[in-house]
Amino acid sequence: MHIDLESPWSIGPVVVPTRVVLAPMAGVSVQAFRRQGRRFGAGLVCSEMVSCAGLSHGNERTLGYLRIASDEHPLAVQIFGSDPAMMADAARLVEAAGADLVDVNFGCPVRKVTKTGAGATLLDDPDRACRIVEGVANAVSVPVSVKMRRGLENGSRAALSVGPRLVEAGASSLTLHPRSAKQMYTGTADHSLTAELVELVDVPVIASGDITSRARAQAVLATTGAAAIMVGRAAQGNPWAISEIVREVADPSREDVVAELVLFMRETARELGPERATGFLKKFYGWYLGRGRFPKPFKQELVRLETIAEVELRLFAAAPGARDVLAVLEETLPEGEETTLDLPISVYGGG
Ligand SMILES: Cc1cc2nc3c(=O)[nH]c(=O)nc-3n(C[C@H](O)[C@H](O)[C@H](O)COP(=O)(O)O)c2cc1C
Repeated sequence: MHIDLESPWSIGPVVVPTRVVLAPMAGVSVQAFRRQGRRFGAGLVCSEMVSCAGLSHGNERTLGYLRIASDEHPLAVQIFGSDPAMMADAARLVEAAGADLVDVNFGCPVRKVTKTGAGATLLDDPDRACRIVEGVANAVSVPVSVKMRRGLENGSRAALSVGPRLVEAGASSLTLHPRSAKQMYTGTADHSLTAELVELVDVPVIASGDITSRARAQAVLATTGAAAIMVGRAAQGNPWAISEIVREVADPSREDVVAELVLFMRETARELGPERATGFLKKFYGWYLGRGRFPKPFKQELVRLETIAEVELRLFAAAPGARDVLAVLEETLPEGEETTLDLPISVYGGG
């Protein structure tokens, strides 16, 4: 079946305007990344995983993850944890912050998270996983979605037995990244499992893993019956991957790349404060300027610079026309300012 990537679909009452979902990525999915993703055609964006323990302790940095801008909607905020009551409390905060969906993380393979009984470990503890989803779904009126891996061990099919139970417990949508937790990011995502999951549940399934092109997106939608596909690593420093998948528009000029990067840097500095942003942004230089767009020594030079202002100057020197492109971009951008909760701004250097 052919699905038009620009056609809308829904998770409960939440209408998602395109079939591309921007993946939650820890250390990447800041507000600037999500707003950019929406602008390039992602129908739904997601925060990185937020610790329910951090929220319950009122940790300032954790609370900062709940800052949502007006042009991000529809947006999911993802929470992780292993205690049903604490997850329910976290979900209430997420809803109060203005999220359109609460997403529950049953996929994180990182030891720091799994050893606390959270993330992918919950695929091995389906009763607890169901109690979490039930608790969260009862706590909020927005739909609840769940993101999973295939299971813990290579070849595991746990997602196929747990998935339908999570829907019974109250999940309105499931995202499957069909790699095992053990695989981390090695090997390939086996979307034949996604197809099997689609057959087993009557809620929309989102396919995540190795979707890097329009052709791949269409093939995965057609062969799995998934409602949408999720794009993660392909969109790192490359929002044009999203527009290429959604509507066949890509191939940015050097000026376009520099303008988007500088805009991203400015927004991130506003969001995280210049000090935190300086370190955070370093990985993005390689991502934006790679793919044959700029020579390698140039990227290395940027990483060594000490301030964002210096990086900006160097970027504009390499592509002077980018100043005009950026001016147009900044003029047409929506304001985006919105915070529903009275959240701390100090970590954001003034909001
Ligand atoms: C740096 C990084 C951070 C990630 N953080 C999260 C996360 O916080 N929550 C989550 O559910 N998945 C996370 N993922 C997994 C992605 O959402 C996605 O499922 C995975 O990368 C496969 O998709 P891709 O091949 O399009 O990248 C992360 C992936 C990467 C590469």
